[in-house]
Amino acid sequence: MTGLEQYHQDALSKLRNKELLIGDAFIDGVWVSKEKKFPVYEPSTGTILGNVSNCELADFQKAIESTESVQEEYFLSTTGAQRGALLRKWNDLILANQHDSKSIIFAVILSLENGKPYAEAFGEVAYAASFVSWFAEEAPRAYGHTIPSATPNTMVSDVREPVGVCGIITPWNFPAAMITRKVAPALGAGCTVVIKPPSETPYSCAILAKLAIEAGFPPKSVQVCPTKDRKAATELATNPLVKKISFTGSTGVGKMLATLAAGTLKKVGLELGGNAPLIVFDDADLDVTIEGVIASKFRCSGQTCVCANRIYVQRSIEKEFTKRLVEAVSRLEYGRGLDCTTTQGPLVNQSAVDKVATHISDALAKGAKVEIGGEAPNGAGYFFPPTVLSSVPTDALVTIDETFGPLAAICTFDTEEEVIKLANDTEFGLAGYLFSKNIGRCHRVAARMKVGMVAVNTGKVSATEAPFGGVKASGYGREGSLYGMEEYQVIKAITVGNLHR
Ligand code: SIN
Repeated sequence: MTGLEQYHQDALSKLRNKELLIGDAFIDGVWVSKEKKFPVYEPSTGTILGNVSNCELADFQKAIESTESVQEEYFLSTTGAQRGALLRKWNDLILANQHDSKSIIFAVILSLENGKPYAEAFGEVAYAASFVSWFAEEAPRAYGHTIPSATPNTMVSDVREPVGVCGIITPWNFPAAMITRKVAPALGAGCTVVIKPPSETPYSCAILAKLAIEAGFPPKSVQVCPTKDRKAATELATNPLVKKISFTGSTGVGKMLATLAAGTLKKVGLELGGNAPLIVFDDADLDVTIEGVIASKFRCSGQTCVCANRIYVQRSIEKEFTKRLVEAVSRLEYGRGLDCTTTQGPLVNQSAVDKVATHISDALAKGAKVEIGGEAPNGAGYFFPPTVLSSVPTDALVTIDETFGPLAAICTFDTEEEVIKLANDTEFGLAGYLFSKNIGRCHRVAARMKVGMVAVNTGKVSATEAPFGGVKASGYGREGSLYGMEEYQVIKAITVGNLHR
């Protein structure tokens, strides 16, 4: 047996509940095995993990019509508290399948299909569940208002109603959490959904759908259409029965979907690309800063929209900061997701590896220096070692274009004013980070960063309770938090007149 085969065997033997590795679509309340399939590759090995049903236009149309047929009844026959109880059950099932005393299931599949280290996959299952339990609490709290009327004998109130059928399109970097962050508030609000999962990582979505139905949601309330056919998936943006579309992915695709959705005036939520600046002032606590940079830059091997993409360090501490960052990065270990020592998994595919290499060679040609890493290894899997570049000029490609890989690019600056301009000099506005012990400076700079989320003295910007979303070309709408459910609701005003007649 080769090393690769052994790896596969070991991973698959951990799948106690093989029923959870589902390659079917879920349409009209039943699992459907399409004749046409597409392969799903394991980024850790480059080999095929399985083959998944490739939905066509007719499948999307059937799924949309089917879920529309139950949406109104689902909403009218349940209270917010009852929908919250269903979400609570879904949360419990997700966590029950995350881990048990003998074997580990959901997180293994997630790690296999995405490549992320097992610990991160395990954490992502909990992160995914956290949105479900959060919205289980929010569902009963869909408050309206009573509004004093200006007209005598009249009462005005408003109520929140579900927007209707929602099209959900999610990315491969968080195969589970990006689904629950959208689907849990949708179901909690009384909507029903058709999900197009990422073709790179469709298995986690199938698990979530199976567990949602097991939890007691009506079988037709959640439909899953995996596909490689982008044109078929655009049905979600054009079909008049779909009332809301929520997408996480690239700015290019987001703009295209928004344009298509405008034809039927759908509600649209877009979580798009980022190019996060991370600013280190000379008064920062360097221990806290290095921990924050590692957390922000190298989570999911640099493949998150909120990863620090440009690290601006005040000139007087550049040497010390670089030395400490290199020390911390040298302790990271890249490898297959399920290997015990791995802290950095592979990238999603070869073109992701090539993009990191292009950003490095561009920066080197402009005068940057490799401090650690820098070259992709030969062999199976889409690996790139965690890399640090110093002396990166502020016009290098890496400062303009999101790398989406494990490359920490260090630029220097002299003044606060200068670095605020550099940080905001991008079309994107998702996340920004800053490190300083000066409380006045922290508030001042945070206020001037043109982003949807600022992290101060921490590398962690994402949390279930914190509104997640961007400005500028990073999109609009907010997920998680107290705002997440209203993205799936519409407000209806009710005026009752002639009360005393
Ligand atoms: C992402 O969308 O890439 C980041 C997700 C998160 O941090 O929650």
